[in-house]
Amino acid sequence: MVDERFESPAEYHAAIERIRDAAAAYYSGPDLAMDDADYDVLMRRVAATEAAHPEWKPEDSPTEVVAAGAGVVGDVVHSEPMLSLDNVFDEETLRRWAARLDKLLGRPAAGYTVEPKIDGLAIAARYESGRLVQVATRGDGRAGEDVTGQARRAAGLPEKLTDPVTIEVRGEVFMTEADFEIANGMRTATGEPPFAHPRSAAAGTLRAQDRTYDAPMSFLAYGVRGLGDGPHSAAMAELNRLGVASTAGMPVCATIEEILAAVRELNEHRATLGYGIDGAVIKADQPADRDQAGSSSRAPRWGIAYKFPPDTRTTRLKAIEVQIGRTGVITPVAVLEPVQISGVIVTSATLHNFDDLVRRNVRPGDTVFVRRAGDVIPEITGAKLDERPADAQPFEPPVTCPRCGGEIDRTQKRWRCTTGRACGAREALSYYASRDCMDIEGLGGKIIDMLIAAGRVTDPADLYDLDAPTLMTFDRMGEVSAAKLVNAIQASKAQPLGRVLTGLGVRMTGRSMSRRLAAHFGSMEALLAATPLDLQAVEAVGPERAVTIAAELAELRPVIDRLTARGVNMAEPDFRPRAASDDSSPSGSGSASGSADGVRLPLQKEDGSPMTVVVTGSVPGLTRNEGNEAVERLGGRSSGSVSKKTDLVVVGEGAGSKAAKAEELGIEIMPAETFAELLSTLGA
Ligand code: IVH
Repeated sequence: MVDERFESPAEYHAAIERIRDAAAAYYSGPDLAMDDADYDVLMRRVAATEAAHPEWKPEDSPTEVVAAGAGVVGDVVHSEPMLSLDNVFDEETLRRWAARLDKLLGRPAAGYTVEPKIDGLAIAARYESGRLVQVATRGDGRAGEDVTGQARRAAGLPEKLTDPVTIEVRGEVFMTEADFEIANGMRTATGEPPFAHPRSAAAGTLRAQDRTYDAPMSFLAYGVRGLGDGPHSAAMAELNRLGVASTAGMPVCATIEEILAAVRELNEHRATLGYGIDGAVIKADQPADRDQAGSSSRAPRWGIAYKFPPDTRTTRLKAIEVQIGRTGVITPVAVLEPVQISGVIVTSATLHNFDDLVRRNVRPGDTVFVRRAGDVIPEITGAKLDERPADAQPFEPPVTCPRCGGEIDRTQKRWRCTTGRACGAREALSYYASRDCMDIEGLGGKIIDMLIAAGRVTDPADLYDLDAPTLMTFDRMGEVSAAKLVNAIQASKAQPLGRVLTGLGVRMTGRSMSRRLAAHFGSMEALLAATPLDLQAVEAVGPERAVTIAAELAELRPVIDRLTARGVNMAEPDFRPRAASDDSSPSGSGSASGSADGVRLPLQKEDGSPMTVVVTGSVPGLTRNEGNEAVERLGGRSSGSVSKKTDLVVVGEGAGSKAAKAEELGIEIMPAETFAELLSTLGA
């Protein structure tokens, strides 16, 4: 990636000032002035500008000095400067760094460690005869602030070592996710605003002058002086033995390929560590290599940070919506200004529960920190209080259930509508029975209301237990209509999987997405076994949708099992598993109605991939949904809008602008009658 340079000295100097301000906030207190990703981009643009215009660069450019020249000071002078690390952001640059180090040494370095880059605050801790005597922050690298009192409470930085050695330990004070939860609980209990983010919480707690509460903190060492001159990995193990938590046990790699594998592994497991990391640190393991490579004024040449894409970013909280789950659980959900977090556009995030929402003190209009860790649903960790709009109003939690108006049970953290599963049952059952879903004729709103009121049904599976005598006990249900309704309900058991899925109302899916899922996986069993990554193989399923679908299916599991037990079909008719090579088909959509036996369906292209077909206007004898289903049975992929990518438009009576657009773009048009004939000829 080429970083965009600044065009003028004025723009360049303004950027330097912004970096200094952000760094001052970062190093000195709980407020973060800029999110890490923006900071890194700005720093890279400054470096790129300096490479092109070295004459603009001041001696104290943030690219040259520790802490970006944030002007942080303290009175504890470090035994030797606490340096920073240079950053790389991709594998190619990491390879070049390792090659440069080998060249500098005149031979390959004798082993590298790969450690997590902990997102906390650097400290130096001095032990004399095994006793912790002083802890200082990094400050400007030369001298830092005394934080001995607070740091004594960090887990992993013991008061007394197992041996009476005199050493200086360097490492990171941070908050684990569990520490952060406890810290915010304590802080808000004392009436203070919550911390927005674990890093700022650690900074605020470590530097707190008056200790109104004792929030937990943790420590992990990544360096030590005074333990002899063995390899770094051995020194870390020795620290562990002395009782100090350290990066011991991390892999020692011999080659760049091993380093890259270890970095990838760390990135993949990042979400499971229980604390925030923002990268990997790669270091020469042998002191001889380190001595020979040396350091610049800012950073060592024997180590480098490989920055991971940030898992936390800031964005604007547009609104807070209230979501009511199938079991009546009521949760606040954040609607966000779209923001990209590690390659994924995030538009909504969970706010956990109403207590948490109040505790985190977030309001619509706030700039909030959003964290997305691996496959976990994005969450809001807190708000930037210094950027709160003057007119931001606290969110008012609902007084009654927004769906059914029922009472809310607030005795647990997770609020519930006291109506439980019956809340929303009318909506869910009507949708399940509707023509585009299970198509159960005669099961209208009135009878559904009566069934719910009588406690006969709360979810779709209950429908299949109904018999005629039971139905006849209801108003205006005679023998004939009761028998007809039971038949219609029983007949719906044969509907294809795509319709069952639609009827279940999986969030973030509609009819066509449900059909696509059914076509791709073929059976409910396969779909339930799919991981979010598997789900992403389906067209138009991105990471956010994949996680939601997986979570929804897990929640629906009991209903699905009950439907299966009652004989509801859970397979897609004519499903043929895709051959492995189909995965690389240009469309990648994995149409199930397929050419595994070499026969091409009418709406498949020569390479077997589906034609993109838009049905507009009415097709004789079919609803719009049935028309779309038919397209897919014929090997095509139905779409709602005409674009250059459309292969065919089926035009029926009442077609409007879509037909005109198809003509304008020169797309093939098929009259609806021809389409209907094609269907009946093929018996599709
Ligand atoms: S080694 C000479 N190892 O990252 C510099 N630093 O961006 C030695 N950090 O100042 C630093 N985890 O505060 C090292 N495993 C690790 C680290 C680590 C976090 C921090 C440290 C450093 C900053 C540089």
